[in-house]
Amino acid sequence: PSLDEILNLHDFEAIARKVMPDKAWAYYSSAADDEITNRENHAAYHRIWFRPRVLRDVTKVDWSTKILGYKSSMPVYITATALGKLGHPDGELNLTRAAASHGVIQMIPTLASCSFDEILDAAQPGQVQFFQLYVNKDRNITKRIVQHAEERGIKGLFITVDAPQLGRREKDMRMKFEAEDPAEVSKAGKGSVDRSQGAARAISSFIDPGLNWGDLKWFKSITKMPLILKGVQCWEDALEAYDQGLAGVVLSNHGGRQLDFARSGIEVLVEVVAKLGEKRGLSFPNEKFQLFVDGGVRRATDVLKAVALGATAVGVGRPFLYAFSSYGPEGMDKAFQILHDEFEMNLRLLGAPTLKDVVPTMVDASNIHSH
Ligand code: FNR
Repeated sequence: PSLDEILNLHDFEAIARKVMPDKAWAYYSSAADDEITNRENHAAYHRIWFRPRVLRDVTKVDWSTKILGYKSSMPVYITATALGKLGHPDGELNLTRAAASHGVIQMIPTLASCSFDEILDAAQPGQVQFFQLYVNKDRNITKRIVQHAEERGIKGLFITVDAPQLGRREKDMRMKFEAEDPAEVSKAGKGSVDRSQGAARAISSFIDPGLNWGDLKWFKSITKMPLILKGVQCWEDALEAYDQGLAGVVLSNHGGRQLDFARSGIEVLVEVVAKLGEKRGLSFPNEKFQLFVDGGVRRATDVLKAVALGATAVGVGRPFLYAFSSYGPEGMDKAFQILHDEFEMNLRLLGAPTLKDVVPTMVDASNIHSH
């Protein structure tokens, strides 16, 4: 189907399922166990309703913002997703280029198919990029990776904390991963690759399950980049991150790919904002301690709900993978055009000329807890 028939981000998924190689589809689309959390991620947004305001001048609306102090054309960033070349020969470079032309920030994954330097070299001068870190059992390797990232100008380090072991993604496991690119597998270290367990497990055995709160001091000693924990799932851990002086947390369950029956990021956001307000007097969005959410975000309305509830920005994963896997760079352009159009219309209909006008009273999240 031509791109003209793509009307929203969901549509990319339907096309991708038809046109992508089975192995790639299995890796991108799969989630843990019975995939209940994966479904819940988007469904949770259906439990939040708007309370728009009327008779406000919305001739001009502006949805640009700042993330960790850096400009972004929308309160959305491209989150880290591994193995971009499974979907398209240019892999993550599709994301890098689209981020540049659409003024958004890309979070580069540790397990990108393209090399880190290749991705940095493809960026425009001044283009802001973040880095997602999987912490290696060998801390010297991690130190090298982190310091190299900082030297190359990475502006934020997102340490993934929800994956001490990789979740069982059975769709992916059934595919029996065979790496076409030995470089992908060599990242895991020789001899440690079990290809019978799917793409995800094959490349992730280096991740350190011993990582703990005590390690954060060490991270602060090796880098000046702002540190953000990716994969926080309750207020207690968000509070600990704040007390340890981190720059923020991503409320995320890894796109449902880790612990099945983890709650959605948007549901966790509601409790984090309430408890950090109560215990530390914080209000959100907050420049000093930023809250991000990812998982199941498919519409500008989803994003605006998160912003209303206190998120600085949200991460989007699979829709961009499906966009470039199905249509290459034009798919990415279309995805951002759709989002921009949706932001414009929905801000007008909400009666919010800017994101600062998207306040908690614009949503009714009283039914966010479904259980
Ligand atoms: C991911 N995600 C992820 N997260 C991370 O910290 N490191 C990684 O290497 C990956 N890899 C990865 C691969 C694929 C194919 C997917 C779909 C996801 C999780 C990702 O950053 C994010 O949390 C979710 O993708 C958000 O959910 P949606 O937008 O995909 O629904």
